[in-house]
Amino acid sequence: MKTLVERVKEAGLPDHIALIMDGNGRWARARGLPRVAGHRAGATAAERLVRFAGERLGLRYLTLFAFSTENWKRPKEEVDYLMDLLREFIDEKLAEFVESGVRLRVAGEIETLPESLRETVIRAIRETEGGENLDLTVALSYGARQELTRVCAEIAADVASGRLKAEEIGEGTIRSRLYTADVPDPDLIIRTSGELRLSNFLLWQAAYAELYFTDVLWPDFTPAELVRAIAAYQRRKRRFGGLEGDGAD
Ligand code: IPE
Ligand code: IPE
Ligand code: MG
Repeated sequence: MKTLVERVKEAGLPDHIALIMDGNGRWARARGLPRVAGHRAGATAAERLVRFAGERLGLRYLTLFAFSTENWKRPKEEVDYLMDLLREFIDEKLAEFVESGVRLRVAGEIETLPESLRETVIRAIRETEGGENLDLTVALSYGARQELTRVCAEIAADVASGRLKAEEIGEGTIRSRLYTADVPDPDLIIRTSGELRLSNFLLWQAAYAELYFTDVLWPDFTPAELVRAIAAYQRRKRRFGGLEGDGAD
């Protein structure tokens, strides 16, 4: 008998899955642990998932929402812990990423990150540039409104200086300036922990993404949960505004 993994692979994987990794704090609270213990468990879940997506599934693009621009509002100790954890995660995984052909990208305001994390990120992006298996984008200090505001300001500056004419502005003008310019739009966006919102994640890129919500808290999100989400995605009919049978992949 074929495994569920084999079946979803045969049925056609989405090119790009994006994950809103939510529920670490609630996972910890349910165990009487401090919130940061939930983040630690969340990092382990992320590690497991990246390995599974790249090596078992053969997924092409994966995006992980790790820290939003609004998450800076959290208590300093929690933010500091998360920044350390992210640095540790990237540092520790770097050799494995290079070995297994994972290319790391970061979407977000990396200039706002603590210096040690910023340096780690820049080094990891450079060292994994040749990776051709899994394209892994980590959204770090990322907010879609901030991203689109920056793009507008850049375009306005180009128009003001004469490098660009207002009538030349098209979707491509915006798309090519997004953090995700080199990555196709997500086909499937998954959010854990039962919240039914995007929380400022990929607002432009999500235009035709299929959304999947699960009550599972992020530290409990196993590869089997991912396969379940993909199977649900494969049962959907994508129309992109056309009629049944049109435009669907
Ligand atoms: C997601 O878990 C991780 C980040 C947003 C950094 P939370 O920390 O939001 O966990 P809950 O939502 O409070 O349970
Ligand atoms: C979204 O989760 C951001 C990340 C998962 C990194 P939040 O926990 O910050 O979202 P809200 O505040 O519940 O909308
Ligand atoms: Mg949350």
